[in-house]
Amino acid sequence: MTSTTPASIAIGSDHAGLTLKDALRAALEAAGHAVTDHGTHGPDSVDYPDFAHAVCAAVAGGRADRGVLVCGTGIGMAISANRHPDIRAAVLHDGTEARLTRAHNDANVACFGARTVGVEVALDALRAFLGTPYEGGRHDRRLAKLAPPGAKPAA
Ligand code: RB5
Repeated sequence: MTSTTPASIAIGSDHAGLTLKDALRAALEAAGHAVTDHGTHGPDSVDYPDFAHAVCAAVAGGRADRGVLVCGTGIGMAISANRHPDIRAAVLHDGTEARLTRAHNDANVACFGARTVGVEVALDALRAFLGTPYEGGRHDRRLAKLAPPGAKPAA
């Protein structure tokens, strides 16, 4: 993993995502990122929301710049992560999705499916995710509308 600004990353997975999570963590560390691994750490069956909530609390609380979550499909992790008001999580299958969700959605959590993407594709997407800035501009207005319906608009 090269050409990304070193950042602090919170990472987590369930049992289905363990092997890919460990591979992504190793690549992030080799690239100089500070990585906090929120587990899981073994093959026993666990519940993906527990790990999504731990990683998202770290990102929303400012203890990590970005989050990375891995489960079987990435979908359960993304559903869990997007329950957090300050989290914008996207399931990534390639570098194009990673670039666009950073540029347009200012996504701060990347989710991967260990049963749906290979490690090289995930690494390529993760590099793009960490290396692409948010474009702002017209997208600010749209992000402001992501607040739950009925919520008071930000001042
Ligand atoms: C676990 O079997 C699986 O359901 C989980 O990893 C994930 O894919 C859920 O979205």
